Amino acid sequence: MTNTGHANHIPDGQILLVGGGQGIGRAIAADFPERSTIWTRKSGVDTTDEAAVRDAYISFEDKYGAPYALIHTIGDFVEQPLLETTDSTYHHLFASNVDTVFQTIQAVVPSMLKRGTGRVILFAAAGADKQRAMLRAPVYFAAKAAVIQLARSLAAEIAESGITVNVIAPGLINHDHSHRESQARMLSKVPAGRLGHPQDVTAMVRYLLSAEASYVTGQVLTVDGGLQA
Ligand SMILES: NC(=O)c1ccc[n+]([C@@H]2O[C@H](COP(=O)([O-])OP(=O)(O)OC[C@H]3O[C@@H](n4cnc5c(N)ncnc54)[C@H](OP(=O)(O)O)[C@@H]3O)[C@@H](O)[C@H]2O)c1
Repeated sequence: MTNTGHANHIPDGQILLVGGGQGIGRAIAADFPERSTIWTRKSGVDTTDEAAVRDAYISFEDKYGAPYALIHTIGDFVEQPLLETTDSTYHHLFASNVDTVFQTIQAVVPSMLKRGTGRVILFAAAGADKQRAMLRAPVYFAAKAAVIQLARSLAAEIAESGITVNVIAPGLINHDHSHRESQARMLSKVPAGRLGHPQDVTAMVRYLLSAEASYVTGQVLTVDGGLQA
């Protein structure tokens, strides 16, 4: 293929990374070191806490104004059959995967609408958009399916504003804190023959952030090496 030297253009503005302290989020922050703000519990923002999110956004907006992009990468994973899942695990998984998305978009997106362009990127997991049993981690996948539905509705609700809303659905992405034992067990189901790297995902993030992706909205973009599970 001929290299035309053409690189996609990413408009200016802050990237608000919700959950960028490790793993995929940290790789995204490393890709945009001068313009990323990270919200994690370690950095003092627990996004399961509505008031904490509101306060953190007031400080952020005072400093920078509305961000160009809101990227939410939080989402704890628990592998457990449905009937063995306790109430507290169930509520934790929905709080971590869904409540944090709801609270963040409620606090941040209204002020983004005035910019005329912008990006919201949420994270699900490969397979969460399929209507079938997910025996490995049913509650986690139910929570991720909720994230996808919220994203699709938000995308349509604000499409005219010039802000796109998309979901990245990673497969087995290997990093310092990923679920090693589970990923090793699942590796034989990856036709590409390897685990993914955070950089496989940051390439998709770069594309979605680009001006060239302005007509892509309400989509689930899967990055999983063809995972058959
Ligand atoms: N890695 C994979 O193979 C894989 C596969 C499928 C889907 N995914 C999804 O992709 C996304 C990123 O995955 P990952 O593996 O990079 O995640 P991760 O390693 O679990 O990192 C999550 C980040 O979110 C922060 N966080 C967690 N709870 C928080 C809270 N209540 N408030 C604020 N920050 C919080 C953590 O920092 P603190 O602990 O300091 O708060 C951490 O920086 C997740 O949605 C995950 O479900 C990942």
